[in-house]
Amino acid sequence: MRVLGIETSCDETGIALYDSERGLLADTLYSQIGLHQPYGGVVPELASRDHIRKTLPLVREVLTQAGVERVDGVAYTAGPGLIGALMVGACLGRSLAYAWNVPAVAVHHMEAHLLAPMLEENPPAVPFVALLVSGGHTQLVRVDGIGCYTLLGESIDDAAGEAFDKCAKMLGLPYPGGPEVARLAEAGRETIAFPRPMLNRAGLDFSFSGLKTAVLTAIRERSQQAPLSDQDAADVAASFQAAVVETLVTKCRRALAQTGLKRLVMAGGVSANRRLRAELEATLAADGATVYYARPALCTDNGAMIAYAGCQRLLAGEQEPLPITVRARWPLESLPAAEPLTSVTLHG
Ligand code: KG4
Ligand code: ZN
Repeated sequence: MRVLGIETSCDETGIALYDSERGLLADTLYSQIGLHQPYGGVVPELASRDHIRKTLPLVREVLTQAGVERVDGVAYTAGPGLIGALMVGACLGRSLAYAWNVPAVAVHHMEAHLLAPMLEENPPAVPFVALLVSGGHTQLVRVDGIGCYTLLGESIDDAAGEAFDKCAKMLGLPYPGGPEVARLAEAGRETIAFPRPMLNRAGLDFSFSGLKTAVLTAIRERSQQAPLSDQDAADVAASFQAAVVETLVTKCRRALAQTGLKRLVMAGGVSANRRLRAELEATLAADGATVYYARPALCTDNGAMIAYAGCQRLLAGEQEPLPITVRARWPLESLPAAEPLTSVTLHG
């Protein structure tokens, strides 16, 4: 089955074509980062308008790249995300499916993130624990199959990616801040003992807003007499990153111990972080557990994960009716299990 995937939930227009027999046939991405950078964050109305401009040309490009004229289904992100941006992809996806007379399927953005590592070689088998770390979510989820999700813990305030973005802003770095903070941290020393939020409390929830305040205080203390030096900025970045990574790694270990599972899948934009990957791999290897993640381009928002997730749902017989529904908020645990589970291949 060949499925066109359309991702427009935030500031990336991602269009891709996935074939259940042959894998990923084409994958394109247009980033709006340059458009939003002057504002220090995503401006929803500008995002919607830019998606309108880019979606259809990218659909044409993907079909040309793959040398394909017909698809068997269309998958589009229906939430969670910016409502106007979601509407653009959903309207286009539903209309294309109607015009081509093929089924359409509404994809949950975070389900797509968590399935993205299935597009890589040696994909994980279920059950596993998933760490979802993006700009809007930080969650630990037990995964027993597609749509069989049990929330183990989540952030009670800021998401990990949001904390990276806010730390970057305080350091005067451009949006999106995660990759910028990670880059600056390479030149830094972990000299500042930032708090490891909620580590000493039982349970699997996270909190990153206190860390943000600690970063602000550290920057103020170091820039009282003179502007923050490059070394001080790098030290703040390195110490901040170390605090986030230690918090995430410790909670992952705890989640594996609690569930008795030995496989951890990490997904979402922050899973592109090299330090997080290295620490998680080293720590979990010592526990006899394995970490799975996708290549960096499939960690951040992309159309390939939408095409893949949509394909699994279509293979299980799901499809959307004509009325278009998108959701700014949409709990992952509310998704239906993909029935019958046995007909669903978890990788290409
Ligand atoms: O999954 P994603 O592309 O979009 C959402 O669904 O939110 O995640 C974006 C988030 C942003 O907060 C960005 O700063 C963060 O992922 N991010 C990173 C890295 N690359 C992206 N955070 C830390 N290190 C990175 N290398
Ligand atoms: Zn995302």
